[in-house]
Amino acid sequence: MSEDSYLDLVQRVGRLAGEAGTKVIRHYFEHGVQMRSKETYNLVSDADVESEHAIAGTIREHFPMHEILGEEGHEADLSAEHLWVIDPLDGTNNFAHHIPHFAISIGYYFQGKATYGLVINPIHNDVYEAVLGRGSTHNGKTIHVGTESRLDQILVGVGFYYDRGNMMVKTLEAIRELFGHNIHGIRRMGTASLDLCQVACGMYGAYFEYQLSAWDFAAGRLIVEEAGGKVTTCDGSELPLAGTSLLASNGLTHADVLECVKSPFLSI
Ligand code: IPD
Ligand code: CA
Ligand code: CA
Repeated sequence: MSEDSYLDLVQRVGRLAGEAGTKVIRHYFEHGVQMRSKETYNLVSDADVESEHAIAGTIREHFPMHEILGEEGHEADLSAEHLWVIDPLDGTNNFAHHIPHFAISIGYYFQGKATYGLVINPIHNDVYEAVLGRGSTHNGKTIHVGTESRLDQILVGVGFYYDRGNMMVKTLEAIRELFGHNIHGIRRMGTASLDLCQVACGMYGAYFEYQLSAWDFAAGRLIVEEAGGKVTTCDGSELPLAGTSLLASNGLTHADVLECVKSPFLSI
């Protein structure tokens, strides 16, 4: 099979898996579901678990030999040649409080390289997608990061890990630093994968978070990169596959945002 047809196949399977997860999430959003606490502040429900089951099942049907890592129980060898990374419901807290801003996130790495990404808001029917070398789209239309080059021209997205201690204090320090450079504002929407998509389509000039899991960014990082943006850790290093800090930007503001978020991060 040629590389092009293989990428087409990956995309087709990703979309089928996304549809399977979407059905589950929509059902539970309409009919309600009991939320449980995984640990303090970190919620989970049958919606998360069944969505992961539906997504992973679809991928397995087509690619039985591929590794699958998922937040709700699928474990995988991150160094596998073919690796799918799933967040079956990103933004669980919004979901629990009936805020229709959450997503299904499906990423695929080939030989350690982000190759396919799909992020779907199942309630708004918003679909963000990227294929390595083919660009990023929002509902089928090509998207690009913004063209702002100064901090006083951008909105910055932020996320907080479930930690309410030092990491939160340091995140607030970074926000204060950014405001000192007259950014237009800070947004904390509560869904990392969609935050990344908002960088990819130019709504945010940048987005950062001091601790994310592999499934929060596997798809969104490629959507940003293929839209012309830049993604690193919060100390400016290359992004790993595993859990990490993350800074995504339109590229032009990257160094300046990094300057503000790096030193609080290094003192966590
Ligand atoms: C969370 C969301 C949130 C981010 C947290 C993530 P979950 O994922 O993406 O925006 O700030 O760090 O853990 O728990 O809703 O899948
Ligand atoms: Ca998540
Ligand atoms: Ca999740």
